Amino acid sequence: MKNSFKMIIDTDCGIDDAITIITVIKYGIDVVGITTVSGNVNADQVTDNVLRILHFLKKDNIPVFKGAHRPYVSLNSTPAKIHGNNGIGDIVLEPPYKTYNEEPAPYAIYKLAKEAGNVILLTLGPLTNVAMALNLYPDLPKYISKIVAMGGAVNVGNVTRFAEFNFFFDPEAAEFVLRHGVPIHLVPWDPVVATPIFESELKETFQGEEGDLILNMEKSVMDFVEKARGIRAVFLPDPMALATFLDEEIIKYKINSSLHMELSHGSLLRGASIIGEGSGIDIVVEVDKTRFLNFFKNIFEGGKV
Ligand code: RIB
Ligand code: CA
Repeated sequence: MKNSFKMIIDTDCGIDDAITIITVIKYGIDVVGITTVSGNVNADQVTDNVLRILHFLKKDNIPVFKGAHRPYVSLNSTPAKIHGNNGIGDIVLEPPYKTYNEEPAPYAIYKLAKEAGNVILLTLGPLTNVAMALNLYPDLPKYISKIVAMGGAVNVGNVTRFAEFNFFFDPEAAEFVLRHGVPIHLVPWDPVVATPIFESELKETFQGEEGDLILNMEKSVMDFVEKARGIRAVFLPDPMALATFLDEEIIKYKINSSLHMELSHGSLLRGASIIGEGSGIDIVVEVDKTRFLNFFKNIFEGGKV
């Protein structure tokens, strides 16, 4: 079991982020803090979602820090409708006992990483907070052993042909982080969209009280996907970033390459991520669906992890 490390999660808590946070807690990872960023919904709503999910998990002790409300440059920071109005499928969870901590997210990332000495930074949304933290605190990379990120697209995007939502939402921040030299394990949209999870598979995989919450949250996504693609299924981008980091056997094929963001304004390609000549980032290209689902089955059936 690979969980002797401390973790910071930066999230734009939508439904798949929530599934990932629930999985991290059930896996037994030591989460030293969660920072929030606008993306699927605005940072205020993201923060409320995270607090309510931690309360649901009886983990009110994990500190939450609010972060960036909008990307550095892009104006069209429209939230993603697929997650419902509140970002978690319009499910209303019990309000938390406490609120978020007052330190801003970029400072919290630095403070928590430095206190821990070494963390895994799991990023599930736009990289606005992470870029800001790396910019404000030049010694931050000393305390981050790896960034595990969901973002980008190699051959197929979800916002445009070549752009994936997290990196499209704040491409300048993505470019800043991709250039920084911190080791990155990246799951782009490609292996995610190649791995639809059908309704029956979802029900078999996510059992128990937390599983029921996940199925309820995913209902709106399944309706959305059914209308858009004619299949009753969901995609699990953020959970795939976590799972492929914790169990490398899930990965069927990965590459090590540089990745560059198209930043030119007015270009149809703005926000696209483009594979470069150099090396540097571990990019998952294909996964084994059976192993991917079994990873969660073991966790949500109360099996040994
Ligand atoms: O493109 C998918 C990503 O955008 C996921 O992280 C989802 O939660 C949204 O943030
Ligand atoms: Ca996300």
